[in-house]
Amino acid sequence: MQLLLGSLTACLALSVSTSLAWSPRPHGATQELASDFPDPNIDPFYQAPGNIASYSNGEVIRHRAVATTLVGRAVESYQVFYRTTDAQGDAIGTVATILAPTNPSLPPNLFSYQAAEDALNLDCAPSWGWGYYFVSSDFEGPDAAWLVGLTEGRATLDGIRATIYHFHLPVSQTSIGLWGYSGGAHATAWAGSLAAAYAPELNIVGAAYGGTPTDFSLASTVFGGGIAALLSGAGLIGLANGRPDLNATLNTLLTPYGVEVVTKLRAPNMCVNANLATFADVNFTRMFTENPWTNPAIAKIVADESLLSNASSLPVPVPKFPRFQFHGTSDKTIPYIIEAQYVAQQCAAGADIRFLSLPDQDHGPAYLNSIPGAAQFIIDAFAGTLGSVACGANVTVPSIGSAEAVDLLGVNSNVLMGALLAALTAGPAA
Ligand SMILES: *[C@@H]1O[C@H](CO)[C@@H](O)[C@H](O)[C@H]1NC(C)=O
Ligand SMILES: *[C@@H]1O[C@H](CO)[C@@H](O)[C@H](O)[C@H]1NC(C)=O
Ligand SMILES: *[C@@H]1O[C@H](CO)[C@@H](O)[C@H](O)[C@H]1NC(C)=O
Ligand SMILES: *[C@@H]1O[C@H](CO)[C@@H](O)[C@H](O)[C@H]1NC(C)=O
Repeated sequence: MQLLLGSLTACLALSVSTSLAWSPRPHGATQELASDFPDPNIDPFYQAPGNIASYSNGEVIRHRAVATTLVGRAVESYQVFYRTTDAQGDAIGTVATILAPTNPSLPPNLFSYQAAEDALNLDCAPSWGWGYYFVSSDFEGPDAAWLVGLTEGRATLDGIRATIYHFHLPVSQTSIGLWGYSGGAHATAWAGSLAAAYAPELNIVGAAYGGTPTDFSLASTVFGGGIAALLSGAGLIGLANGRPDLNATLNTLLTPYGVEVVTKLRAPNMCVNANLATFADVNFTRMFTENPWTNPAIAKIVADESLLSNASSLPVPVPKFPRFQFHGTSDKTIPYIIEAQYVAQQCAAGADIRFLSLPDQDHGPAYLNSIPGAAQFIIDAFAGTLGSVACGANVTVPSIGSAEAVDLLGVNSNVLMGALLAALTAGPAA
């Protein structure tokens, strides 16, 4: 449990580090800070070898040690470059940051944290921006295929395989827990959905995710202006990065102004915070000759990116492992209704889901308030002590300021919560 709390804290530090520009200190003389490595766009570590298709999914192609401080504890940490498979079925390579604790629990618990990269290029990948704990994958892959479910889900599962492979963990005895919010929840949900067919050997014991874009059917309605419109427009371009068919149609709908904006969105160093600052004034309506979300060819592709069983023409699996999902009822970035519909459909098909509805909360605050419940869920899932609930029922969880939450998150929680609050008040969390 100590171990897990350490990594939870580390993961939260990761999630705010891009906003706060924290500079963690190295503990080992021989290791380099991730931030000392070259830009991923030119770093040979990120280059796929010509024979990448001869590697199996999750096989580590190369690795390097990186320096971390994990709440003052020494840990062994690496970046691994591993093979995965993109939405088109082609072999690609991506990077995960992985770590082994000094006193591993036996049998092992492997915690997979999906950061909300929400960005359209490689510079925003978490292993570059300070990913450290059990495993945090750059699940968008080399093309920054943001919100492409197949690519993200497979890259997440193969990042878990790469961790098991690198540390020689006994696969069937390793318990795996997943956690993600927003863009990270998208990767988490897809990983969970694909796991039984794509990585049946993995023993997933629970997944906590929320603020999840399970479907894009409402994206067209927020297309007009504001932050939600930015994410809606950027989301479409992220999808196009991983779907050449979508990209081709989208290209035919761009105005000259649209071409200019898309080129900027795909430029190096354009992570989510920079996106928000640079593109706050972008008028997405002006970028296209028609609303692209309602174009029939695009709508068909986007529908198959949905996890709603009545939207996608593909089968939507129902994972057997327990899940904790959460969503603010006043979320203006990702509408509450699409996650609620997903939960209802999954429950009707036999799922095991605790669902926390956070009344009147928008996207950022809902994240903050979900943390104690998500941490409790992951701890209980690893310990095998999750009780049973009626699927989809509202659950009660420790509130963020409570003594219970402080107990749960440890002595660093005040510092941690302060940092999270600072991050959330600095701008919308995506
Ligand atoms: C999308 O289109 C742009 C502009 O033609 C091109 O540069 C890019 O390589 C395309 N991406 C994909 C994934 O097809
Ligand atoms: C955005 O552009 C469209 C089409 O050019 C225009 O009708 C609309 O008023 C613009 N919106 C804003 C907020 O400027
Ligand atoms: C799917 O079903 C929900 C009700 O559960 C409905 O509100 C929604 O519009 C449906 N979506 C599609 C694409 O049919
Ligand atoms: C859960 O709580 C939310 C917010 O209080 C409410 O809107 C929703 O209807 C509740 N859902 C269920 C299934 O009780």
